[in-house]
Amino acid sequence: MKKLLLIVLTVAFASSCQQKNDNNVKNEAVSVKDSVGDAKFQMYEMSEMAALMEQMYAYNTQLKERITTNQDLGSYPEAFNKLHTAVLTEASDRDPFFNDQAIKFIEAQKMIYTDPIQAKDNFNKMVNQCLECHAKKCGGPIPRIKKLIIP
Ligand code: HEC
Repeated sequence: MKKLLLIVLTVAFASSCQQKNDNNVKNEAVSVKDSVGDAKFQMYEMSEMAALMEQMYAYNTQLKERITTNQDLGSYPEAFNKLHTAVLTEASDRDPFFNDQAIKFIEAQKMIYTDPIQAKDNFNKMVNQCLECHAKKCGGPIPRIKKLIIP
C-alpha cells in the first residue's frame, strides 16, 4: 500500500509540464497522509489530457517492446482520438498549433499499423511527433519521451 502510494506520487511529480513552476496553482492540491508514518505528501490532480498523455506513454512503451520482439502490433487505440477533445490543465493550450500537431501525431501513430514492415521507423516518427508538440507546449516530459525512441 505504501509502495503503491509512493509510485503514484512519483508519477504525479515527475511528469508535470513545468517541474519548477509550482506557483502556477491551477491544479488542486490534495493532501495525502501516509498510512504508516506521519509523513504528508502533496498531490496534484491530473487533467483529463495529462491522464491521456500518461496512457499514451504507457501504451507506446509496450508497443516499443512488441516491435523490438517482433510481436503482433494490434491496431490503433481509438482512445487516442480524445486528443481532440480532452480537457487541458491550461485551456489556452488548445490553439491552432496544438490542433495541427494532434492531427499529425494521430496520423503518425496510425501509420505504425498500416505499414508493419517499417514499424520501427514509423514508431520513431510517431515519437518525433510527440516531441514536436512538446517542444512548444510542455517541455518537462521531453527527456522521458526521448526514451521511447528505438535505437
Ligand atoms: C498535440 C500536442 C501533443 C502531442 C502530440 C503529445 N503531447 Fe504530451 N502533452 C501535451 C500537453 C499540452 C501536455 C500538458 C497536458 C495537461 O497538463 O493538461 C502534455 C503532457 C504530457 C505528459 C505529462 C502528463 C502529466 O503527468 O502531467 C507526458 C508524459 C506526455 N505528454 C507524453 C506524451 C507522449 C509520450 C506523446 C506521444 C506518444 C505525447 N505526449 C504527445 C501536448 C502533446
